[in-house]
Amino acid sequence: MKIFIDTAETTELKEAFATGLVDGVTTNPSLIAKSGRDFKEVIRDICEMTDGPVSAEVASTDYDTMLKEGRVLADIAGNVVVKLPLTWDGLKTCKELTGDGIDTNVTLCFSATQAWLAAKAGATYISPFLGRVDDTGWPGMDLIAEIRAIYDQFDYETEILAASIRSPLHVKEAALAGADVSTIPFKVFQSLLGHPLTEKGLDAFTKDWAGTGQSIL
Ligand code: E4P
Repeated sequence: MKIFIDTAETTELKEAFATGLVDGVTTNPSLIAKSGRDFKEVIRDICEMTDGPVSAEVASTDYDTMLKEGRVLADIAGNVVVKLPLTWDGLKTCKELTGDGIDTNVTLCFSATQAWLAAKAGATYISPFLGRVDDTGWPGMDLIAEIRAIYDQFDYETEILAASIRSPLHVKEAALAGADVSTIPFKVFQSLLGHPLTEKGLDAFTKDWAGTGQSIL
């Protein structure tokens, strides 16, 4: 499963990319607003940091304007993925941009039928929002499994991008349910690594090694 980082903060991305484990980036209008920076400048900066896919979301909701915005965003860099809402107009825009050879990420997916239509529209990625489904009292992970089953049954190439990830457990379960990608907030990415027994074990090894008085170098 690929790892994308869900952030518009370039300081976080610098640290994340330094691990060599990160395959791409997703942003959304709320993350851009939180950054307090110019949208196109942020996307340009992120695209200079990676050759991997960088999702940049349109701001309008009508077909004509989304199409124009999508083309402007795609012109920023070759690795921009145009993010579109899962609406009637969003899917029309997806179909059109896909026809132009532009990669798309259809976002705000909350049902398997929505995901099926996005695949039919040629979306490069579909973003089911796990955490937000969980918030309503339904298991978000079931959505990933259902989309996986439908996509496999009909050989759709659209990649399942598990979004609205809130915890390491979400990441693990998304991988088990067959997501192609998880887009993870930086803090959750950091917490994937930590385990108290790793720290405890390393402390013991370090102490015992010091007792030998030896040096490897
Ligand atoms: C995905 O592309 C979205 O940017 C993101 O995962 C939304 O997460 P949230 O529900 O925590 O805002």
